Amino acid sequence: MTTTIKPPETQEKFSTLTERQTKRHEKLIETTYRNNIDSDYTEKIEELSKSFNYNNNRDHYWSESEQSLLYASPLYEVASPAQKLALNHLHWFTNYNYISNSETETVNFNQVTSSVFAAIGGYETLSRELSFETEQEYYHINAFRKIGLMAANALIGKKGLNTLLKWNSYKLTLGQDPLPTYKYYALRSLAKRMLSGRKQQYSPYLRELEQKNKFILKAPTAGMLGRSLEYSLPLQSFFTFNWGSGSPFMACQFYTIRMIANLYLKNMEHSIAKYCKKLENKGKFIPTPTAISRYHFLDESFHTTISQLLAKDMYKAFPKPTPYEKFVGNMAIYMMQRGTLGGLSGVLPHRYFADDYTIMELVYRLLQAPVFGMSSEDALDWMKRCFCQEHEGFYVASKNRQRLLGEMRRFFNDVDYLWTVNREMRVMAARGSIQTAIQSNTKTFEQFSRTVIAENS
Ligand SMILES: [Fe+2]
Ligand SMILES: [Fe+2]
Repeated sequence: MTTTIKPPETQEKFSTLTERQTKRHEKLIETTYRNNIDSDYTEKIEELSKSFNYNNNRDHYWSESEQSLLYASPLYEVASPAQKLALNHLHWFTNYNYISNSETETVNFNQVTSSVFAAIGGYETLSRELSFETEQEYYHINAFRKIGLMAANALIGKKGLNTLLKWNSYKLTLGQDPLPTYKYYALRSLAKRMLSGRKQQYSPYLRELEQKNKFILKAPTAGMLGRSLEYSLPLQSFFTFNWGSGSPFMACQFYTIRMIANLYLKNMEHSIAKYCKKLENKGKFIPTPTAISRYHFLDESFHTTISQLLAKDMYKAFPKPTPYEKFVGNMAIYMMQRGTLGGLSGVLPHRYFADDYTIMELVYRLLQAPVFGMSSEDALDWMKRCFCQEHEGFYVASKNRQRLLGEMRRFFNDVDYLWTVNREMRVMAARGSIQTAIQSNTKTFEQFSRTVIAENS
């Protein structure tokens, strides 16, 4: 394959990279792209999800028992083997529901930024790799949704599932109007004015969507970024304009956010991949969701390589960021620290979002489903013990969160334009204590039980 990174002449004088470093980047992109298209992990994911049948997988653990909803809580200690299996399967469902929401965001931003690189010229292989990754995400999302929903349907029934399906749009529907066109263009022009003075091409992908009126009135997303931006359409749009503004620095900057998502996912998925390998080595039955997690882990390793390169090194090939660009980039990371990384769950060992309301809803439905068969009163009683009182499950989650914090710090440590609060992940470090989680759960639980009691009376 021919050399693909040839920064335009105007950019060469800005680059702080040596020729050797630039060559190394080129090679890494080409190798990653080649290896990614030569691999067949996505095809395997598609095949496995097509033939998935819950009954064939229901008697097996899909991951180590430690990766179960309510693991190490008082309820887990008294749960029967069948109940423990259900908790293990619902851990897979809740995690991949969140991952599929986040990958929907990735699909959008991969295209926004890839078209910026394509417009600059000289980055054809990178654009091809990003388009290929986007295609892969569609298959991942389909598999996660299909399997997760089939499992949840079997375990908590249609009625319970219908309540839960509003998750993906739960807060989106609370008093949120679509972004009016005038606000959209006001935000767009603000971003454009702040970034003026640069010779750059606004993302052709975004322009095309605007021409078709497709981007403008969409609902906010509910993945890691959307939740961190508090489900705010204006905020989501604002960041989109900046990452798609045409500034190559901003296009690379998006990949710090993608890297946070990559590390978050790896923190949960690596253990499932290892569990899968263990079953394979012992010649045991491998449940379909376990195999899908492993192939996904392998697919995502290519994506992580690209996120890392763009977020940590490649931005240096372009003009240095302006104070405004640094501000927007730092704000995005800061919001991720406060949002998706800003809490701790006592019932899901790999969830760090501060608000457990939706998880309470899931647990409440599950405890009344045939597998647990509790009354509403008993369900609320157990929930209070699991969400609002200290138990071992909080410590398991806290340990996983500390590991993730360490990885984030190692990654951001030498990204030179970051504020100290981001470079050292100070917000994430300051949050996520067990005491804060219990206090916040107690407040949320009071609100939740009031709603339930009102509904039942
Ligand atoms: Fe994915
Ligand atoms: Fe990905």
